[in-house]
Amino acid sequence: MNTNQLELLSSSKVLVTGAAGFIGSNLCEALLESGSTVVGLDNFATGHKKNISELEKHANFTFIEGDIRNLDDCHKACNGVNYILHQAALGSVPRSINDPITSNDVNVGGFLNMLVAARDAEVKRFIYAASSSTYGDSKSMPKVEEKIGKPLSPYAITKYVNELYADNFKKTYDLDTVGLRYFNVFGRKQDPNGAYAAVIPKFVMQLMEHESPVINGDGSFSRDFTYIDNVIQMNMLAIVTDNNEALNNVYNTAFGERTTLNELVMLLKEYLSDFDSEIAKIDVKNGPERRGDVPHSLASVDKAKSLLGYNPKFDIKSGLKEAVKWYWDNLK
Ligand SMILES: NC(=O)c1ccc[n+]([C@@H]2O[C@H](COP(=O)([O-])OP(=O)(O)OC[C@H]3O[C@@H](n4cnc5c(N)ncnc54)[C@H](O)[C@@H]3O)[C@@H](O)[C@H]2O)c1
Repeated sequence: MNTNQLELLSSSKVLVTGAAGFIGSNLCEALLESGSTVVGLDNFATGHKKNISELEKHANFTFIEGDIRNLDDCHKACNGVNYILHQAALGSVPRSINDPITSNDVNVGGFLNMLVAARDAEVKRFIYAASSSTYGDSKSMPKVEEKIGKPLSPYAITKYVNELYADNFKKTYDLDTVGLRYFNVFGRKQDPNGAYAAVIPKFVMQLMEHESPVINGDGSFSRDFTYIDNVIQMNMLAIVTDNNEALNNVYNTAFGERTTLNELVMLLKEYLSDFDSEIAKIDVKNGPERRGDVPHSLASVDKAKSLLGYNPKFDIKSGLKEAVKWYWDNLK
């Protein structure tokens, strides 16, 4: 980043919604390190107090416990804010299949509240967590931003509706937005517990406990697993870019390589074996395929590279090594 961009970060007040969650808490930390004043908003639906306990010691951090389904909470959180990194949502495809109404209330109703509050507060830019699930049943590979399919889950619908609303708020109210379509993000602080835990932290915890991970399907499904630091970089670039062409766009936020579930488990076993050699001997089980799962996911990150100057530093191997070490040091 150049001097102007660093100055912009250190002189800005940024609202991070979903601040007690995995991605939100990491974004808060990175922003505070860059000198920004940070407001965090969260209702602890899936986030944790421990994720913000260190942040709360920081003089430039304010936390608001509130719900994005409540417009007053959104207005309060947006007060005096220059940029918004909107992360609050109910993640997980299976959760949305089990309870589409709550996923819709939070992910669509809450999103709309946040857009309205951002417009009213006249924030400079509304940057939001979109999702690779928007590619739905599209068979094209790698995924390019302009070519999407039909959504395969209620969750995917909510994330696509976010993009439609963001686009419309530019046209209707001249609110600048940037959507970041995250592809299977992983790394420190991602929750390994609960029925809707993501595959990497769940498998890491199981392997550390000497339990066999269960792969849904035959393990040939693949994902563009993306380390958290690449996601932080994209959010920072979306804040600091002075390229007008880059605004009011959506971007794949990924590394740009795909890994099958079978390969993923092999890597996890290999890296965890450095801490506990018994882990290398653990067998893997296979279960039924999950409804709503996209078989393969691989991003083209060319658009982010050319318009935002994205330069991801962590591939799956270097990211997994960092993540595994963090889980071993913090949760073993
Ligand atoms: N992790 C991924 O791989 C991934 C992939 C694609 C998109 N995303 C999106 O990124 C964002 C962050 O995901 P994450 O992985 O950090 O999940 P997370 O569950 O760790 O974080 C989400 C946070 O939002 C908060 N939240 C939920 N409902 C809320 C409400 N009504 N009001 C206020 N706060 C609320 C939760 O308490 C939680 O702290 C989400 O929008 C998610 O849909 C994540």
